[in-house]
Amino acid sequence: AENIGIHGIEIYFPSTYVAQEDLEKFDGVSQGKYTLGLGQTNMAFCGDREDIYSLALNAVSNLMEKFDVDPNSIGRLEVGTETVIDKSKSVKTVLMDLFAKHGNTSIDGIDTINACYGGTSALHNALQWMESSYWDGRNAIVVAGDIAVYEKGPARPTGGAGVVAMLIGPNAPIQFENGIRGVHMENVYDFYKPDMDSEYPRVDGKLSISCYLRAIDNCYNRYAKAFEKKFGEKFSLDKVDYALFHSPYNKLVQKSFARMLYNDFLQNKEDPRFATLAPFKDIAPEDTYFNTDLEKALVAITKTDYANKVAPGTTLAKQLGNTYCGSTYGGLLSLVDAIGDGLVGKRVLTFSYGSGLAASAFSFKVESPIKSIVDKVDLKQRLTKRVRVTPEVFTEKLSLRESRHNLKNYTPSDPTHNMFPNSFYLAQVDEAGKRKYERT
Ligand code: ACO
Repeated sequence: AENIGIHGIEIYFPSTYVAQEDLEKFDGVSQGKYTLGLGQTNMAFCGDREDIYSLALNAVSNLMEKFDVDPNSIGRLEVGTETVIDKSKSVKTVLMDLFAKHGNTSIDGIDTINACYGGTSALHNALQWMESSYWDGRNAIVVAGDIAVYEKGPARPTGGAGVVAMLIGPNAPIQFENGIRGVHMENVYDFYKPDMDSEYPRVDGKLSISCYLRAIDNCYNRYAKAFEKKFGEKFSLDKVDYALFHSPYNKLVQKSFARMLYNDFLQNKEDPRFATLAPFKDIAPEDTYFNTDLEKALVAITKTDYANKVAPGTTLAKQLGNTYCGSTYGGLLSLVDAIGDGLVGKRVLTFSYGSGLAASAFSFKVESPIKSIVDKVDLKQRLTKRVRVTPEVFTEKLSLRESRHNLKNYTPSDPTHNMFPNSFYLAQVDEAGKRKYERT
């Protein structure tokens, strides 16, 4: 197949959120730490009525409804998530309920797990399937998202929840630039989940930030090489109209975009545009991850470009928090929503990162109008329909989730009347651990 890309995209997020300014007060941290320091506005979360199965069921069923997808037109469906509720049974198999009842059980693909990267791996699998001899002419759906929760402490405000579903097929309006990808993977323990009795990760925040920035450096430079090979021209940030990032919190995205320009500087240190960076030209890149003077100089020269090229893709990450696997694709949807048909003809560079670690940079171009996607998703309107709850309620819900973790034989206690209409929710977990869902 040719011109493979995204025909439709949808996100499901919970109907309640907590405001970061309220959390700052509740946690007793200095005012501005979460809102300005992390750059976050609100955070979505789930109680005990929602789990990764119900979130994914909502994302996929809403995608199919809004984009009028014939269940028999799908030949591949895969899921990227790190929200694991079963060590064997995949989220994908649960989603088969939406297709099997229409007679389609011939759907390839399964779950991919590695921190926030599974969604990207799932997407790449779908693209590669469509380019291969195994492709049978049908479309694919890629699901990416998580429920991100941290124990009480400094990482808790960087949680979030949401699942993105994308309809992938040939001759798409949003087309991936094939043959160009920069990959970086290595073995580190910056964030991982060795505790099966807890939903929370173990995280070394500072280490994860240095890993993220190292992955940016490597992926960006490898992407540049592949770009130059394909197009026979020099790559730099000037070739990029918009940039999307995996967003653990917005401040890191600001620094990451600036870091890309730093890599351009390393390629061309004498360029007068980079005059303010001269004092840093002899420092090894791996010694600069926490160099605040360099950071300030970079953020200053990328300020306007950040506002134009990056900020439009950050809405969902600021409003929902880190949706782990969903983060990068929530960024894509934010950008589509913000710029609409203004994206036609534009190149979007995308950086995806999952701790542990796995990362890649790749790009897509918008080739035809996408206004109908914007209208169908109706993002802004849906975000305003959410309900703000207090940090007390948010904390109670996370405690409830803790008490439900690995539990069998219970009926969730959260009320369902606050949920968005027509949403799947967890109705019951039986004594054998089997889960049942109903719809609001
Ligand atoms: N007003 C304005 N800014 C403030 C204020 C204030 N009142 N208080 C603090 N800040 C700034 C700090 O200067 C800092 O800015 P900087 O990043 O530019 O240095 C920022 O707010 C954060 O403050 P820290 O003291 O560094 O925060 P802390 O160490 O308590 O926690 C962290 C931050 C490490 C990100 C933590 O939330 C965490 O561990 N999160 C999970 C890990 C994570 O998301 N890693 C990213 C990649 S991996 C992944 O995606 C899971």
